[in-house]
Amino acid sequence: MRHFLTLKDFTKEEILEIIDLGLEIKKDLKNGIHKDYMPKKTLAMIFEKSSTRTRVSFETGIYQLGGHGLFLSNRDIHLGRGEPVKDTARVISSMCDMVMIRTFEHSKLEEFASFSKVPVINGLTDSYHPVQLLADYMTMIEYGVAEGAKVAYVGDGNNMTHSWLMLAAKLGFELRIATPVGYEVDSKILEDAYALAKISGAKIFVSNDPKEAIKGATVVTTDTWASMGQEDEKEERVKVFAGYMVDDLMMCLAEKNAKFLHCLPAYRGQEVSESVLEGHADIVFDEAENRLHAQKGLMVWLDRQR
Ligand code: CP
Ligand code: NVA
Repeated sequence: MRHFLTLKDFTKEEILEIIDLGLEIKKDLKNGIHKDYMPKKTLAMIFEKSSTRTRVSFETGIYQLGGHGLFLSNRDIHLGRGEPVKDTARVISSMCDMVMIRTFEHSKLEEFASFSKVPVINGLTDSYHPVQLLADYMTMIEYGVAEGAKVAYVGDGNNMTHSWLMLAAKLGFELRIATPVGYEVDSKILEDAYALAKISGAKIFVSNDPKEAIKGATVVTTDTWASMGQEDEKEERVKVFAGYMVDDLMMCLAEKNAKFLHCLPAYRGQEVSESVLEGHADIVFDEAENRLHAQKGLMVWLDRQR
């Protein structure tokens, strides 16, 4: 049995296999073919933070696979009022076939997984958001920019940045990260990425200069300056991150037909300008839709490992 907690635990071949499976299931869906890959299976979805895409894609995805999703917010289950993680894990995994969790500390997800009898999927923690990267890379494949990609990430060194680091390090592409001073990526995760990059051939650069990162990039991406749980820092961050907005001038430094990706939700006028977001709306909203397809591939893949 496998859990999907970070991309670090997966080989390049496995990551590509999951995405390929998602693409195959997507093609069937577009042709009106529905296959019950997971009949009568249940997916428990625990949300300790808000969500639009993750909730809708997992709930719709498991249903389309022939199963059923249970939406469990921390207002509804006892985990939210102090029932231990290890007890919740043992109870839920005794009744459900798979669990998806969105929470704060990554260690909470790890603890849950260590007590779970069924596969656990990371639906976002403070440290990583790996399911988003499955959809992002699927989108890069579809738009023909996966091969020889030079990805620039401009913004906060957060769960998305850490996941980009792991994806690049595993798959072996070039990643340039630019964050403000004091908002750099986690040094331990960066160290892990450098070590993996030695094996995969990935080129990873970190700096505090967004222009240097974007220059010649084939894919440009960013994320909110204040993640969920950092609401109190929002005002301060808006000041610190001035100069890190991906706008038309910034995009001019990238390769001529460079693509722009955003995991959403986007804050126009902060990490991205209205014009860049709307100018790349086709790819950004395909990227959002691909959450559904990539995660269906993931659920079927994990189910087959049991
Ligand atoms: N990108 C993403 O995970 O979106 P949600 O927070 O809406 O799930
Ligand atoms: N970094 C963001 C991602 C949202 C999908 C957050 O954690 O809030």
